[in-house]
Amino acid sequence: MSYKTILADEAATQALGKSLAPCLLPGLSIHLHGDLGAGKTALTRAILHAAGHQGHVKSPTYTLVEPYQISIKQRAVTLLHFDLYRMLSPEEFLEAGFREEFNDNNICIVEWSEKAAGILPPPDLHIFLSIAGHGRKVELQALSDKGNECLALLRFAPNL
Ligand SMILES: Nc1ncnc2c1ncn2[C@@H]1O[C@H](COP(=O)(O)OP(=O)(O)OP(=O)(O)O)[C@@H](O)[C@H]1O
Ligand SMILES: [Mg+2]
Repeated sequence: MSYKTILADEAATQALGKSLAPCLLPGLSIHLHGDLGAGKTALTRAILHAAGHQGHVKSPTYTLVEPYQISIKQRAVTLLHFDLYRMLSPEEFLEAGFREEFNDNNICIVEWSEKAAGILPPPDLHIFLSIAGHGRKVELQALSDKGNECLALLRFAPNL
């Protein structure tokens, strides 16, 4: 299953994040793709706020990961937001125990998964963002049953 649309402005990115939040399932792993400034962190921030996180969402550029507690169907779930742009080596990822965070309980959203190719488990969902004029193109692609389950729940109609 896949879904494509245009996000005309940042409000549309926020609206997509809000629509995606109730579709998240424990164990889901999402890889976000797109150039610098494509909107990967903006989308993650919108998902987190819609999923009940009230504080700041900073880009995990130097820490590589930031954990959040969110609530899914009244169950507390850890969502890990990775940004692997500055990851130096696969060893750094493995020694930090990041591989173990990709399990049936956590939700993982990964920016720059390309940097950890070969050591990351395949995602349930790919989200591709690209700059298109003043806005963004977005494509969501499910790769697993869990990814299909998530996309089947998505109800999103952008205001173009
Ligand atoms: N649909 C949109 N249309 C226009 N601008 C947008 C849209 N969505 C987000 N933006 C803007 O694009 C920028 C995206 O920045 P963001 O930090 O989210 O990018 P990123 O993909 O995470 O980059 P990086 O690879 O550096 O982490 C922000 O300035 C945001 O306001
Ligand atoms: Mg980012």
